[in-house]
Amino acid sequence: MKFKPQMDTSLLADETRATALSNAAQDFIPLDLTRAQVDDLELLLNGAYAPLRGYLGQVDHQSVCDSMRLADGTLWPLPLSLEIKEDLAGKITPGDQIALRDPEGVLLAILFIEELFEKNNQHLLGGKIEGISLPLHYDHIDLRIKPDAMPAEPRAGLVTGGILHRAELEAALLYARERGAELLVQSLAREDDDLFGRIRCLKAALSNCPENHARLSILPSTPPADARGWLLQAIVAKNCGCAAMLSSGDMSLVEEHAEEIAINPVSLPAGSPDDTFPEVSRELQSLHPPQNKQGFTVFFSGLSGSGKSTIANILRVRLLERATRKVTLLDGDLVRKNLSSELTFSREHRDLNILRIGFVAAEITRHGGIAICAPIAPYDDIRKQVRLLIGNHGGFILVHVATPLEVCEARDRKGLYAMARAGKIREFTGISDPYEAPEDAELTIQTTEISAGQACDQVLAYLEGKGYLMPDTQG
Ligand code: ADX
Repeated sequence: MKFKPQMDTSLLADETRATALSNAAQDFIPLDLTRAQVDDLELLLNGAYAPLRGYLGQVDHQSVCDSMRLADGTLWPLPLSLEIKEDLAGKITPGDQIALRDPEGVLLAILFIEELFEKNNQHLLGGKIEGISLPLHYDHIDLRIKPDAMPAEPRAGLVTGGILHRAELEAALLYARERGAELLVQSLAREDDDLFGRIRCLKAALSNCPENHARLSILPSTPPADARGWLLQAIVAKNCGCAAMLSSGDMSLVEEHAEEIAINPVSLPAGSPDDTFPEVSRELQSLHPPQNKQGFTVFFSGLSGSGKSTIANILRVRLLERATRKVTLLDGDLVRKNLSSELTFSREHRDLNILRIGFVAAEITRHGGIAICAPIAPYDDIRKQVRLLIGNHGGFILVHVATPLEVCEARDRKGLYAMARAGKIREFTGISDPYEAPEDAELTIQTTEISAGQACDQVLAYLEGKGYLMPDTQG
């Protein structure tokens, strides 16, 4: 069945229409959006991005990039088209309808495709949308306002991507009070671990305001922190019923277009770290514990028989003796037994194996623990991916156990090298499969010259030197 987009004011379909659309959507091509795309969709559906009623087609897209205006002249700073993968681009044509879903597959909206175009090798869709339901949130539900449902009272929007410093908040409160307006604090935030801490900081800062003078809200958006980004936020603030936009960011474009948006731009003093409220400082301290309390991952990489497991086991014990944090050892052979038993030693499967190890280590690191990983991890690319994954949450220390192949083969504790030479094991690292020696290792260990215990000492010394561990005074 073909539907046409409805053009009344709200982009969210009413109940009857939503039911009809979701039934029809079973025949539409599904597209699972990324988290960032879901955020943009939410801002479209809830009216924050009015007058946009969907994703920009090519002419509008280009026009926005060139002149910050839609083709019809409307001021609009963000070239918002829907990016899709190449394989999907091959399957659709204008006139089709797409079922937009969140990453878990919940149906959110229908996109009526008007255009499919390419820009800088990206495949982009333009077309109107109709919402079936707003994206789900489990956190901070009371702070997620719907701009098109805001009461029409005088309001000033304080837009912030950070925490509020004293001078910033006091200037904003004064401005609002003088005009009898409510201060709407719009916190720009995508959903991640930091959001909770930031919102606690904002609540702590606002606990200094008289009651009912300020209202906190979350906008699921992180626009570029440049003049265009702030201009977009000014339009959003206007859509939330704000007569003024207050910010310590770059307001130059907001000032230039103030009349057109019909918003009053107010530049706030930029906060300085020694100007935080004491309540906020306390929150910040718990958000950013000193490095010797943060989690980290020591990631050993090296050939089979290079001594990774031995050093990793000694390191585990030494760290447990210090009893500062919980330690998990993800040894190559153990992981292959417990987490990756179905995987082979093809490049694809090795990468998958390392990604699984990386995922677990990232969780451990995020929770403030210590993960010790000891797989071969022969490929540079996937090691770098794991570094990025873990680096978001804490320390990542790559240790190359650089025992030469001849030495590993001469040891051959498991007899695997002999079997590999005899052709009984295929794709064996070092013999019939590559090992890309890391060039980005924090530490390279030459096990031919030192014992495993001494190698472990080197790792511990590195960790102390970088502040991950307090120097061991017990000896
Ligand atoms: S990785 O390449 O995916 O990182 P991993 O560390 O899990 O490898 O497993 C390596 C261990 O598996 C080796 O220590 C060895 O005992 C065993 N093994 C079995 N077949 C191979 C193979 N083809 N290449 C390397 N190691 C193998």
